[in-house]
Amino acid sequence: MSARIIDGKAIAQHLRETIAADVARIAARHGAQPGLAVVLVGNDPASEVYVGSKARQTVAVGMRSFEHRLPADVPETELLALVEQLNRDDAVDGILVQLPLPAHIDTNRVIEAVDPGKDVDGFHPVNAGRLMIGLPGLVACTPLGSLLLLQSVHADFSGLSAVILGRSNIVGKPVAQLLLQQNATVTIAHSRTRDLPGLCRTADIVVAAVGRPELVRGDWIKPGATVIDVGINRLPPAAGEAKGRLVGDVAFEEAKSVAGAITPVPGGVGPMTIACLLRNTLQAFKARRGID
Ligand code: GUN
Repeated sequence: MSARIIDGKAIAQHLRETIAADVARIAARHGAQPGLAVVLVGNDPASEVYVGSKARQTVAVGMRSFEHRLPADVPETELLALVEQLNRDDAVDGILVQLPLPAHIDTNRVIEAVDPGKDVDGFHPVNAGRLMIGLPGLVACTPLGSLLLLQSVHADFSGLSAVILGRSNIVGKPVAQLLLQQNATVTIAHSRTRDLPGLCRTADIVVAAVGRPELVRGDWIKPGATVIDVGINRLPPAAGEAKGRLVGDVAFEEAKSVAGAITPVPGGVGPMTIACLLRNTLQAFKARRGID
């Protein structure tokens, strides 16, 4: 049997259409428009691509997009001053500082400088803490996107076991919190976990977020399980290829023949991240302005 392929591209498009309709309704009724500011430090090629897509999709759903580009050697104080300025700017509802930042900048200091009400990345300790104790807040985009994909397969997570591979603050830990809130029984595994394949084989849901190309093999998957692959890894180019293939953290072809449902790479979790960023921007806008 071959798994159902979870179409992240289509689900993300549907989410963007819902957001665009709500933005249009609010513009007509209140004459107000959400605004998202993206800050890019340096010119990392992958970050350039993400920032370009974010700006395009922001405008496409009817929001204002503000882009701030700073040189790679910008002093930390200058970046913090820009964040402060965006915190005060009433036209800005969401602030995203593209990561990774250059090594001379303290990433945590920058994250903590963002107004939690405008923290559409959900990285600020206030939002991470609110998620942990079950209060409403802004939730990190990739975890939120992963949950929405899982909800396209499962109406109810009670009694289901989930194994999360990876314990990062931006994916593993928040995904675990979201699934726990949905009544799943959650295990977070990582590089020091004993018998990762054996543990994975117990899971009804596997979320792979470790950044290791095709680490998870087909025989790690319980028959019928749902597999969410958060990894985006570029393999070295094979002979005759200009660029290497993009693969996830899961060996897709192997896992597909065992799983019940699985996300592809690309076209799975990736498209959901920006759609959830727009969702968070709309949420922040509504909360800041008391609009429903
Ligand atoms: N770099 C890669 N993914 C992300 C993300 O979701 N947010 C930010 N700020 N930077 C990133």
